[in-house]
Amino acid sequence: MPVSIRPLHEVFTGEVSGVDITRPLSKDDVAALEAGMDKYAVLVFHGQAITDEQQMAFSRNFGRLEDARGGNVTRPEDKRLGTGMNDVSNLGKDGQPLARESRQRLFNLGNSLWHSDSSFRATPAKYSLLSARIVNKKGGNTEFADMRAAYDALDDETRREIADLVCEHSLMYSRGSLGFLDYTDEERQAFKPVLQRLVRTHPVTGRKSLYLSSHAGGIVGQPMPEARLLLRDLTEHATQPKFVYVHKWTLHDLIIWDNRQTMHRVRRYDESQPRDMRRTTVAGDAPTVAQQAAE
Ligand SMILES: [Fe+2]
Repeated sequence: MPVSIRPLHEVFTGEVSGVDITRPLSKDDVAALEAGMDKYAVLVFHGQAITDEQQMAFSRNFGRLEDARGGNVTRPEDKRLGTGMNDVSNLGKDGQPLARESRQRLFNLGNSLWHSDSSFRATPAKYSLLSARIVNKKGGNTEFADMRAAYDALDDETRREIADLVCEHSLMYSRGSLGFLDYTDEERQAFKPVLQRLVRTHPVTGRKSLYLSSHAGGIVGQPMPEARLLLRDLTEHATQPKFVYVHKWTLHDLIIWDNRQTMHRVRRYDESQPRDMRRTTVAGDAPTVAQQAAE
């Protein structure tokens, strides 16, 4: 059965059928999925019961996997999943939900803020692939926002104003906005701000998008409160319901999203119940802007 994609939303997000990702894909299938990603920016697959190895193998069709180091405060000895997998569950190494006061849990709550994965890295991520291994009965939806449609809807004056702006992104900005402020010296070093263009152009389609993220906490050359207000206004604009697709997870769903063209966030859920979501991340090609002066 050939790959087919049906739209799930007015401006983006497609639902894929005709693909079994537990098996190697043909070149044509991979090309069809890449083209689908360029068009829809988010692709939803159902009924994909996969292992971590199968998820990593499928992800590598789209590029090399990103090195996950420096993206969280989980100590290596506390990690539940192997190299190459990002743990976006609420579970500890023992498979049980993390304690309420767990530093790991409190840091990970930052995923409830609108963001683009790895925008805090000098070379930010291309795609993320999220596989649902245990889902919540209630809550825990993931929401996606189309940053191309958001850009298209800006007025000319705003487009001119932001065309060449460069932002500073750090995990300390997103977590700091929730009052998570205590870091070790090593974490401060690992989470040092990087620079990202505020407007990105997609390498294949040429479409422009707003490159926003809760990790963005400053704009080069602007006083801080002014920068934060502009980022806040743009984020409010970009996450209006008309640009947002809400995904209610079913067991064994898999979603791929393009971090260059979208933001996402997870909604609150009952954290006494297990939620096992596993992410692989396809690395981006290059920084969005030369890295300098970011301290
Ligand atoms: Fe994320």
